[in-house]
This record gives sequence, C-alpha cells and structure tokens, in this order.
Amino acid sequence: MSEQIQIASTSELVPPAPAPLAPAPPVLQPDAGYLGYDRALLRPMSLATKLRALLKYLWVRLKGGPMTVNMEVTYLCNATCDFCDYWKVKRSGKLGDYDYVAALRKLNPLSVTLTGGEPTINKQLPEAVRRIKESLGFVYIGMVTHGSLLTEEKAMALWDAGLDHISISLNYIGREHDEERGIEGLYEHISTLVPRLTARGINVVFNTVIMRENLDHVVPIAHLARTMGAKVSYSCYSDFKNGNETHLVDPAHAERLESVIEDLIYQKSRLGNIVSSSWYLRRVPAYFQDSLPRSCTAAGKWLVQLTPDGDIKPCAELPVQSGYANFKKVSRKIDCNRCWYSCRGETESSLKIGRLLEGLERVWKAGV
Ligand SMILES: C[S@@+](CC[C@H](N)C(=O)[O-])C[C@H]1O[C@@H](n2cnc3c(N)ncnc32)[C@H](O)[C@@H]1O
Ligand code: SF4
Ligand code: SF4
Repeated sequence: MSEQIQIASTSELVPPAPAPLAPAPPVLQPDAGYLGYDRALLRPMSLATKLRALLKYLWVRLKGGPMTVNMEVTYLCNATCDFCDYWKVKRSGKLGDYDYVAALRKLNPLSVTLTGGEPTINKQLPEAVRRIKESLGFVYIGMVTHGSLLTEEKAMALWDAGLDHISISLNYIGREHDEERGIEGLYEHISTLVPRLTARGINVVFNTVIMRENLDHVVPIAHLARTMGAKVSYSCYSDFKNGNETHLVDPAHAERLESVIEDLIYQKSRLGNIVSSSWYLRRVPAYFQDSLPRSCTAAGKWLVQLTPDGDIKPCAELPVQSGYANFKKVSRKIDCNRCWYSCRGETESSLKIGRLLEGLERVWKAGV
C-alpha cells in the first residue's frame, strides 16, 4: 500500500523548472478559479467544422455505431506492467501491413484512439494521423501512450499532423509510477514534458487507472494535471487483461473508494479539468462490487478494437471476430461486466441525453 500523499497546496506539485531551451510552462495558481478547461478539450474549430462534427455524431447515432475505434498500431511495448501482457509479445503486425485507411473508412467512427502496445514505437504515426484526417471527413483522433518515448518534437509532429489529444498514462505521483511500468525516470520525464507540451497548445490528458494501490493518488493527480495545464480521464482496473486480480479494489477498500469518487465529482466542478463524466464516475464503486447490470452495450457496436493485423475485436479483451472487410456490428448486448474502462463507460455515457448535451456544449464552446 502506498503512503497517503498530503497536499497542502497544489503549487507544491509544480514540476521542476524546464531546461532553458523550452518555453516556460503555464504555472496555474490553485486559486485562480474555474479555468474553462472544457473549452480547451477540442482544437479551435471553424463553425463549418463544428457543424460537420455535429452531423457526424448524429449520423453515427442513426447508423448505430461505431462511435469509437481503438486502433492498436502495434502489440510491442518497452514497459513491463504486471497487469498487461503486451510487452511479452515478440512480434507484431504494423501499420502498412494492411490498408488501415480502408479499414477506418469501412468503420467510419466519430473518434479513433491510437493505442497498442506502445503506439509511439511506430515511427509512421504522424503520417498515419494525417492520412486518417484527410480520408474520413470529420474524425477526432487521440493517442494513449506511457510517454517514455515521447519528446516535445515528436508530440509537435503528431499535433501538426492533426492529432486532437495525447493521453499519457499516469497512475502514481512519484517513483511508484516508474516501478509500475518498469521504466526508470518515467515519472520525472512525464512531469517535465507535459508542461512543455501544454505550453505549446497541445491537449494533454492523463489516463489514470483507479486501482487498489493508487487510491490516495487519484485526486492529487487531478490537481497535478491542473498545475501542468493538463486534463485527466479516469478508468478502472480490470483483471481481464491477464488475470492479475491483485489490483482490483477489494471490499476492505470500498469505503475509501467511495470517498475518492465523491471527492472526484466535487473536484470536477471545482477544477474543471476532469474529463470523465459524473455518470461514469458514479458507477465506479458498483463496478468494483460487481453489481453493475451484466450487459455491455458498447463492445462490438459503439466501440470496436482494430488490431495491428487489421482484424476486428468487439473490445480489447474479446477474441477476434473478423477481418475489417467483413466487420458486422454485434447486435445484442454482451453478457459481460469484466471491465469498466473509460472507453466502454464513456461510450455508453455518450448515448445518454445529458452527456450528449454536455458534448454539444463543448463543441460549441471550442474556440474558432
Ligand atoms: C493497453 S495501454 C496501451 C497504451 C500505452 N502502452 C499505455 O500504457 O499508455 C492503454 C491504457 O490501458 C491501461 N491499462 C492497461 N492494463 C490495464 C488493466 N488491466 N486495467 C485497466 N487499464 C489498463 C493503461 O494504463 C493505458 O492507459
Ligand atoms: S499497459 Fe501499456 S505500457 Fe503497460 S505493458 Fe501494456 S501496453 Fe505496455
Ligand atoms: S464489459 Fe464490454 S468492453 Fe468490457 S470486457 Fe466485457 S465485453 Fe469488453
């Protein structure tokens, strides 16, 4: 169990000063009030692009999905997390082995998340982002990375190619994060890099997985993100990846989890940089108690996984269903509750009217 982090002031979390070459990061004062982060979730968009985004959403709703495609660009990874076995894979398909533009055109989602394995291992990513943007009409593209291979230059190349946000995994403040990933100096690298990226206008979102050992880090990460000009999105630990149950939040920690979630919902309105919906967060304790209704409406319909070989899986954890050319939506709810990943929960949440209005408001408020 990690020690509780005591934070008297979020200014304590300001990372070390950047090297002289980098522009100064925006150091946000903890009491500066609401920062209007929701306006910064999206790139500035012209009115025409906003309308195209809205039309695309309505069209995807009417055709019945997919809303999101998680596109694994490689299985390879240079970390050694004990809750995910991708890093044990020695060979992987890669972009260029199949026609990924044709695959995405066939699926034609509202958003694509580049993932892996570790996506930044793939050197063709900026080119891929550019091609996807050019080929799909309106599409929102994100990427999730552990960040160790990311530099300011690589991030800028992706941003210039049209990437809409970079998610960087962060489960702990401090060296525990290095230990979790098996990468020495990773936390320091992230905490130096992120303020530089946000200073250059890149949307950065921390991806934080809620698990038994990091409950005392979950809320402080939102404060830390704010001092760095970044946002945070929460997800929940699942043992479905490789059977490791040790990180599930057990009944002995249920009360602590409840108070963390209550605090997160409060901080969401106060800090303004918590991307997760309250709808999603409120269901986190029920997920860990295994009391969510056993019906997944997202996998295979609203959410699909595209593997590095060009195959389709209903979600990251289910087996391959078909090649992309033969993709057919899963028409029934799946009797499964093995995860409450944000990609599942937020996709389900995006179908609720309240969340839809929140999304529309965000698009509307995005700068022109
Ligand atoms: C599979 S990783 C791929 C991207 C990249 N390698 C990374 O870790 O950021 C995508 C996300 O899934 C999260 N993840 C991995 N294993 C998980 C598990 N067992 N339960 C919940 N989230 C998990 C990671 O922390 C990361 O944010
Ligand atoms: S979670 Fe990401 S960083 Fe960790 S082993 Fe899996 S792919 Fe690699
Ligand atoms: S709950 Fe849905 S998204 Fe999660 S593992 Fe099961 S089928 Fe996949």
